[in-house]
Amino acid sequence: MSTPIDKLLSCATAAARKAGDHALANLDRRRDADAITHHDVKLKLDVECQAIAESVVREIFPDHTILGEEDDHSSVAPPANEDGVLWPMEADEILWVIDPIDGTVNFSHGMPRWCCSIGILKGGRPVAGVVYAPASGELYAATCDSAATCNGKAIHVSDTTALEQSIVMTGVDRHKDGSVPPLSVFNAIANTAQRPRIMGVAALDMCSVAAGQADGYMETGIFLWDVAAAALIVQQAGGQVEILKREPGFRLQCQATNGPIHEELKGVVMGALGRA
Ligand code: IPD
Ligand code: CA
Repeated sequence: MSTPIDKLLSCATAAARKAGDHALANLDRRRDADAITHHDVKLKLDVECQAIAESVVREIFPDHTILGEEDDHSSVAPPANEDGVLWPMEADEILWVIDPIDGTVNFSHGMPRWCCSIGILKGGRPVAGVVYAPASGELYAATCDSAATCNGKAIHVSDTTALEQSIVMTGVDRHKDGSVPPLSVFNAIANTAQRPRIMGVAALDMCSVAAGQADGYMETGIFLWDVAAAALIVQQAGGQVEILKREPGFRLQCQATNGPIHEELKGVVMGALGRA
């Protein structure tokens, strides 16, 4: 018998709240790191929060598969793109995709913009997603058969129709192989949108699109766990999400918009990436 979607959503909500509240309660340990690299940091709290979220899921769904940011994924090959599919899987297989702290660098500096993101895929398609930002108390949620909400209230994407009137959220790709020239996408967005924004939390950036506060989001060098929950939240808020490219280790190029600006933004991005 298949698992009711609302049961998946309530478990994801409980897991995100428990993991996120643990990070918030331990803010004084925000600089305890397992590894610090030039552009990134792996915190002890990343690992603890993933374990907390996983234990909530395993208690209710012991047989489900879990993919967490803190596991080792370097050898995973990228699958082919399939419409509406975030990650190709068997039709009945359920995959929990957990980013225990998205915006780890913000968190480690004491900035309040970070979140716990939990997306659930069935047959590769998102069926439920929760993005919880403990410092602001915002909890974004959606299922494949219900509207996107923030703290229980329905949210909707903006009706902006032109890129030149749009806020576009993005990030800085740290790809070291030179395939994406540093700041190329950022410069292209800055030259065409009303304003680009780099806030450092992909899941919340996409939720800003879902809530109509921003009109688009585009990032190269992002990962499945950054977008798995928020992709559904954007779609169920009336927006559009597209994986523009897949790379090894669950790495993606992802664009999310309100819909009307989608093709215009994609044209600008593809031009910057030399794929126009
Ligand atoms: C990062 C954030 C950031 C994005 C990076 C992600 P993390 O996730 O979402 O906004 O630009 O690409 O890796 O490392 O804080 O979980
Ligand atoms: Ca992340």
